[in-house]
Amino acid sequence: MRPRRFRPAGALRGEIRVPGDKSISHRSIMLGALAVGETRVTGLLEGEDVLSTAAAMRAMGARVEREEIGEWVVNGVGVGALLQPQAPLDMGNSGTSTRLLMGLVASHAIDATFVGDASLSKRPMGRVIEPLSRMGAAFDSAEGAKGSQTLPLTVRGASPAVPIEYRLPVASAQVKSAVLLAALNTPGITTVIEPVPTRDHSERMLRGFGAELDVEEVDGTRVIRLRGEAELRPQVIEVPGDPSSAAFFIVGALIIPGSELLIRNVGLNPTRAGLIGLLRDMGGRIDEENPRVVGGEPVADLRVHHSPLKGIEVDPTLAPSMIDEFPVFFVAAALAEGRTVTSGLDELRVKESDRLSTMAAALTLAGASVTENEDGLLIDGTGGDPLAGTEGPITTHLDHRIAMAMAIAGMASVKGVEVDDTRPIATSFPVFEELLEEVTR
Ligand code: S3P
Repeated sequence: MRPRRFRPAGALRGEIRVPGDKSISHRSIMLGALAVGETRVTGLLEGEDVLSTAAAMRAMGARVEREEIGEWVVNGVGVGALLQPQAPLDMGNSGTSTRLLMGLVASHAIDATFVGDASLSKRPMGRVIEPLSRMGAAFDSAEGAKGSQTLPLTVRGASPAVPIEYRLPVASAQVKSAVLLAALNTPGITTVIEPVPTRDHSERMLRGFGAELDVEEVDGTRVIRLRGEAELRPQVIEVPGDPSSAAFFIVGALIIPGSELLIRNVGLNPTRAGLIGLLRDMGGRIDEENPRVVGGEPVADLRVHHSPLKGIEVDPTLAPSMIDEFPVFFVAAALAEGRTVTSGLDELRVKESDRLSTMAAALTLAGASVTENEDGLLIDGTGGDPLAGTEGPITTHLDHRIAMAMAIAGMASVKGVEVDDTRPIATSFPVFEELLEEVTR
């Protein structure tokens, strides 16, 4: 464990550049590994989660090499040509690596065993096992709480796999992507029906790599069709900055008096940008500068000014577009004036930790007024006054986003907030603490 007390250090000022998007970084390596030839990636996030994906693709035959900071080269084997890994694939803390790679293995004539840390080993895998079984793959998994299927698990791929039409029962980009990646090596057309849109990086990137994929939108429902036995062409990819990492600094600058921060290189894909609109609705001043397109995704620099925020009732249909941002959003709500109500957030209970109960406990310990409901939190904000802070440590349960959200809460408190373990931050945002020092210097 690496505990640390995050103390108030005044306004956040200056400018920072956020590291590469985690979702796009994972997919760059996976798709690069399936394209014959050399894919070059710049701005790759070098967090532990992405390194788990890189190691797994190496174990299945791809050459994945780092040339310089953020600059990677992937030499792929081609769709259908993944090799049998010789040892269990260690996924660390990464749900995205696990679920997407389960999809890849499911339609190859190989088997793979997935293992992970204590947090990942509690997370439900039935949501991907179900559609991938319909495609013909076979699974052996451990049994978790309430009969859920968990790691360690072994996938035996089907060759050939069977194309399916699958309607997503949960709004999950990971489940969607697992099926689409399995479809790459499946004859015929696989269809995924998405009643609630989730992040669309897989669709954009699969097309970019030359897969035949089309998306039809009918009354808000997206129907995604992918033709299998695809031949992917290697690409040159520039990874845009991660809006989910920027979120901690956006909220920090909004709630800490005197702040004015320029955050460069923030990806603003509409399927990811829910938090920014919501914070603006609460009164937050977030200006977009220098809008441009990076790696096929909209990107801008964000100038954020300290702003008095007002509590809000959050429309649950916004959730998928800000699913990873709720921990830090709850911190913003705790400093807003009046009540913030969230609902429809059951998915937060199966992230790296149960983010409803973990955040309710941590914020309460830090002096916020929080009620935990079954599917959301109700928070009565301080109206801009700092939180009291904690005496002892809050518990992060190996969840990077809880650690970073509560670090920001500490900066907006009187006594500071002690975080029990900062090590998980390295899974998604290894330079977080460094950047925090930089903007408070
Ligand atoms: C991700 C999808 C989201 C998100 C995760 C990354 C992805 O999970 O929480 O951090 O890269 O596809 P779900 O799709 O399961 O909500």
